[in-house]
Amino acid sequence: MAAKAVKTIGILTSGGDAPGMNAAIRSVVRTAIHNGLQVKGVMRGYAGLLEEEIVDMNTTSVSDIISRGGTVLYTARCREFTTPEGQQKGAEICRQHGIDGMVIIGGDGSFKGAGKLSGLGINTIGVPGTIDLDIACTDYTIGFDTSINTAMQAIDKIRDTSTSHERCSIIEVMGRRAGYIALWCGVANGAEEILLPERYDGDEQAIINRIIESRKRGKKHYIIINAEGIGHSSSMAKRIEAATGIETRATILGHMQRGGSPTCKDRYYASIMGARAVELLLAGKSNRLVAYKHGEFVDYDIKEALAMTKDIPEDQFRIADMLVR
Ligand code: ADP
Ligand code: F6P
Repeated sequence: MAAKAVKTIGILTSGGDAPGMNAAIRSVVRTAIHNGLQVKGVMRGYAGLLEEEIVDMNTTSVSDIISRGGTVLYTARCREFTTPEGQQKGAEICRQHGIDGMVIIGGDGSFKGAGKLSGLGINTIGVPGTIDLDIACTDYTIGFDTSINTAMQAIDKIRDTSTSHERCSIIEVMGRRAGYIALWCGVANGAEEILLPERYDGDEQAIINRIIESRKRGKKHYIIINAEGIGHSSSMAKRIEAATGIETRATILGHMQRGGSPTCKDRYYASIMGARAVELLLAGKSNRLVAYKHGEFVDYDIKEALAMTKDIPEDQFRIADMLVR
């Protein structure tokens, strides 16, 4: 079948923002213009699409953004777009603006929307953008690298003061359903405990016992990396302090992990993925997700990608568990 010619593409960012999204936007815009396409920026994700917040973009619209965190297109969550009526309206607005191809940068929720747009005749390609690394079809998501480096630096600082005061510190990192940030930082920061939503059995008494043991061995601090999906860090700190007699503080790193200037890796991978998305549209493809798998940039059918599952690799968890002891 001959490739359907795409003349005007839209681009939006959706769901939680992630450092590197701007690099992807820049790459999409510049690749499209290089190939003679028009580009329209859709502001505020699907919400902005339904409100027709659509602006023309050119090469200079994306000047000086590659080093900036956040997304210059802004992002939002939009309930209306989860309804068939909202999706029809979105596809119709695309047509009215001459948009025949869309690049959607976001996570699994955003890709469900992308699949719907594709089914309604708008050629749509997804690019994985989330700090959580929780998109099954890809080993890399835009923002994860910056996020873990931001969290790692913050945890190093907390460790200094924790040691000086001979305290126990619980540091809560982001990841509501996925523990990748906690796993990577737990290992990279040399933590004493790594609590992952996928693995934590809730045995707080075992943690308390290990804290008491380590204090007996002369350890000056005890760093617990707790994932947001487990949460309750403040109440956990109170219980641990009461049970061990060791001063215990909780720090929730929060949204600082989603901001800041992207790392080189996030800028580079986001740039490649943005360009690949446009190239897929130019090749007449739709309903695909750009991914990075086994060392290569690839793409998957959205429905197949969303049906994939992913878990913390067992061997990495085993090694992390060994290193904390
Ligand atoms: P993420 O893309 O990071 O997973 P969300 O789950 O919040 O973030 O999804 C972002 C947006 O994608 C939602 O606000 C909604 O507009 C759209 N979306 C989510 N699920 C669906 C769905 N099943 N069908 C259509 N659109 C969806
Ligand atoms: O972007 C992913 C994520 O940071 C999750 O780790 C977290 O649970 C969620 O977004 C929080 O999003 P918000 O505070 O914007 O609702």
